Amino acid sequence: MGCERAVNTGSSNVARTRELTRGLIPDVEWAVFEPLIEKINELKRRRNAVILAHNYQTPEIFHGVADLTGDSLALAQQAQRSDADVIVMCGVFFMAETAKVLNPGRTVLIPDLEAGCSLADSITGADVRALRARHPGVPVVTYVNTSAEVKAESDICCTSANAVEVVESLGSERVIFVPDRYLAGYVAANTDVEILPWDGRCEVHEQFTAQQVRAYREQFPGVVVIAHPECRGEVLDAADVVGSTAAMVRYVRDHRPRRVAMITECSMADNVAAEFPDMELVRPCTVCPYMKRITLSGIVEALEKVQYRVEVPPEIAERARRSVEMMLAVGRGGGR
Ligand code: 13P
Ligand code: SF4
Repeated sequence: MGCERAVNTGSSNVARTRELTRGLIPDVEWAVFEPLIEKINELKRRRNAVILAHNYQTPEIFHGVADLTGDSLALAQQAQRSDADVIVMCGVFFMAETAKVLNPGRTVLIPDLEAGCSLADSITGADVRALRARHPGVPVVTYVNTSAEVKAESDICCTSANAVEVVESLGSERVIFVPDRYLAGYVAANTDVEILPWDGRCEVHEQFTAQQVRAYREQFPGVVVIAHPECRGEVLDAADVVGSTAAMVRYVRDHRPRRVAMITECSMADNVAAEFPDMELVRPCTVCPYMKRITLSGIVEALEKVQYRVEVPPEIAERARRSVEMMLAVGRGGGR
């Protein structure tokens, strides 16, 4: 998980996925999934396509058809290195746009155009220009959960894995940080750089509360609570570990806690449970409705009809690419 693996191609993979997800996917659902997985694997070969899947994708996609998986940063890194003719992004639209920005000459597909993001919807390029006018000379750091147009107006991008490092890489006393107000708060708590935030929020992570974390601790003694930095500050304060989705997996792999609660999107815990069957996972379940637009049948259609093609106007793509490449040069932060 959270890493590259051999290209998923054949029926041995269906058997492996079925074994991995035993206990997560009932047999009756397998009867539907199996032919779709086989069809996708055949279409991938025919199109010379690669499937990138975010950690929030459902187990049959994540373990069944993805060639490369991970957090937003890993997906951008893998997209940069891809030599496939077609990239299918199983994630949300901004992730597909980032892949296109990094691969202007390749076909990038997203299986469903409604796979958006409340953070990406919270800010426009005009908003960033207005912020610059209000704070002349202050650099703009933009979370990748934004449109290419917003990235094009920014100095540099970041993900939840490297936000602090990116902010500090600029050597500025103050930075404008958009659009996630909670991630901005997390960065502000971990750096001396003054952070000027925007008021965007993730509608999924915003639902978690510190009261919920306390209730888990009471009911599940010894539980290690890992929270995503898109959560409210009170949740981050109540957690044991804060990190990107890849950092969550790394923590579990390195520390092998007996009991874990992952304060993030539902499928994350399912995908981790498949990999670490002996670990007890407390599963706060909040679904990202955008991530869940992606389905096996949607991926079949995407590969059959070569849809939906993601395009970014060249002059926006060029400026957005600069911001994304600057972020990739900073790389992954210290274990986040
Ligand atoms: P990660 O980069 O940590 O995977 O987060 C992406 C995201 O959209 C979380 O809501
Ligand atoms: Fe956007 Fe939140 Fe969904 Fe991530 S979980 S894609 S930030 S709405």
